Amino acid sequence: MTIESQDDIDGVMNAGRIVAKVRDTMLSTVQPGMTTAELDELGGALLESLGANSAPRVTYNFPGATCISINEQAAHGIPGKRIIQAGDVVNIDVSAEFEGYFADTGATIVVPPVTKLKARLCHATQSALKHALAEARAGSPINRIGKAIQRTAKSHGFKTIKNLAGHGIGRSLHEEPEGIVSYFDRHDTRRLRFGQVIAIEPFLSTKSTSVTEAEDGWTLVGHPANLSAQYEHTIIVTRGAPIVATRSEACG
Ligand code: CO
Ligand code: CO
Repeated sequence: MTIESQDDIDGVMNAGRIVAKVRDTMLSTVQPGMTTAELDELGGALLESLGANSAPRVTYNFPGATCISINEQAAHGIPGKRIIQAGDVVNIDVSAEFEGYFADTGATIVVPPVTKLKARLCHATQSALKHALAEARAGSPINRIGKAIQRTAKSHGFKTIKNLAGHGIGRSLHEEPEGIVSYFDRHDTRRLRFGQVIAIEPFLSTKSTSVTEAEDGWTLVGHPANLSAQYEHTIIVTRGAPIVATRSEACG
């Protein structure tokens, strides 16, 4: 969507605050021995208590309130019986609707012990998101976002997953502009517009450059030995630095 009023700004910011809170609560709860279903129940209950609806559930009938993807799973992992183990790379993606507005966020953590590779993967992906946000301003080519992500990944020795992408958001979970990819697409001539609401979500990986759908019909997986990380913010595009709707309360 494109912001047209103060109500639109408030709506996106309120939805953003909710998904950020649920994301951070879930991240701080991750423990080895718990199942992804238990973690998701916590997120689902918190969304409900805040008056929000899980966006993947209302939009796609996703079998969970949030997406939890571990190790070889890059995205859209279904919460279930999988037990979180020491050393797992855990991605939590939370998107929700609140009073007609949608926001989407994600983050990745490593359950200790944290190897250097896993720490570097998370650091590089956070850095990629930061550099991508710096390119997101009104009038800028959309493909500068992918360029920044790809460059950051490469400088840390990682790849990016090409068939996962950021997207417009606001009045629904996925809107135009779709396909805000994690690599430089020189054929993409689109430019960002003032007030556009978009979700930027770099996916960096150790091996895989694409993911495929698992037999469960949802989970997107890479090579069995692949590890990936994703961080995602919903933002409002301005002529300067974007307004980030899904920041952490804890560390800005
Ligand atoms: Co997301
Ligand atoms: Co998204």
